[in-house]
Amino acid sequence: MAFRKLSEADVKGKTALVRVDFNVPMNEGEVSDDTRLQAALPTIKALSWKGAKVVLLAHFDRPKGKRVPSMSLRPLAGPLAKLLGKPVAFAEDCIGAETAAAIKALPEGGVILLENTRFHAGEEKNDPELAKQIAALGDLYVNDAFSAAHRAHASTEGVARLLPAYPGLAMEAELTALEAALGKPKRPVMGIVGGSKVSTKLDLLKNLVTKLDKLAIGGGMANTFLFAQGWAVGASYCEKELADTAREIMTLAGQSKCQLLLPIDTIVAEKLDARAPAFVRGLGEVDDDERILDAGPETIARLTRAMDDCETLIWNGPLGVFETPPFDHGTVAAARYAGARAKAGKLIAVAGGGDTVAALNHAGASAMFTFISTAGGAFLEWMEGKTLPGVAALET
Ligand code: 3PG
Repeated sequence: MAFRKLSEADVKGKTALVRVDFNVPMNEGEVSDDTRLQAALPTIKALSWKGAKVVLLAHFDRPKGKRVPSMSLRPLAGPLAKLLGKPVAFAEDCIGAETAAAIKALPEGGVILLENTRFHAGEEKNDPELAKQIAALGDLYVNDAFSAAHRAHASTEGVARLLPAYPGLAMEAELTALEAALGKPKRPVMGIVGGSKVSTKLDLLKNLVTKLDKLAIGGGMANTFLFAQGWAVGASYCEKELADTAREIMTLAGQSKCQLLLPIDTIVAEKLDARAPAFVRGLGEVDDDERILDAGPETIARLTRAMDDCETLIWNGPLGVFETPPFDHGTVAAARYAGARAKAGKLIAVAGGGDTVAALNHAGASAMFTFISTAGGAFLEWMEGKTLPGVAALET
């Protein structure tokens, strides 16, 4: 894919419409995790410094086309201004004459945040009329919201087709890292996919086994694979109805010469409780009333050994119930091992999606990874091999 480069754009005196993802966690009206605000700063600062007016477009939550006061973006203007070190104006709507006037009143380099794009029903429908009204507010369009790029909405896709469109700096970094991990990776390339459900990651697994040299499967979803191989999984979470699908994926992996690494031992307990007695169990040793809650020591040792001759690692999903120690051991050990190899320059380690970031933070390994995506659904869809409409619309 070929994109324009924002760093080469002449933006002085122009108005840049910048799509950001400010769908941040809030607690009692306060931003409780500002990662996504931080991620947008380099693009906002660069444009502002070069003398563009910066007009921020974003959604928040799912108001379904209605004006829902609790889903206003207004509470974000203050925290953003603090991080930027300059004022951030706010407009009550993302289109219209009043918004246009507020933009006109901005000084060169000024920043304004527009109200939730999803207050308009046309946003999620990618309504061309709404896209036109948004586009009328600016001279160029910058998309810095990779994590919303799986949505073909007016502010992520429609507007991009109406103005000269650029990936923002965070989007550019994301696309570069993802291309290095799965598009044209240095081989051998290995994947780790965990999490509880096979059902939500079928497309992902099917795509990965055709692209990777090795794939380790962990977490609750590994139980379905063990069950499909005929091993007892006791009282563990297991999607038994997907046993045939799991077998299909194993066959596909064999045909594609992707080495599948399934657990060879497990950690079990009768209850998901930090104080419950926990035991190491080999395959076939899990009792009826026991639940598999983490990968066993042999499994982790084999998984880390498998990383040793790999150049690239892509990781999505924890290997056990990491939120409840001691069932975090497998995830923590594997994350630290991958992080240390990445830090030593021996591995390109990329991770993303849902609770993966939380798991790597918990392991204290995030800073050592080559790249961690802030995206949830978009990261998964990209790993599934799907075209992200918000990215495709930026192609020249
Ligand atoms: C996210 O938080 O993953 C993105 O902002 C997309 O939000 P959505 O799932 O409501 O479209």
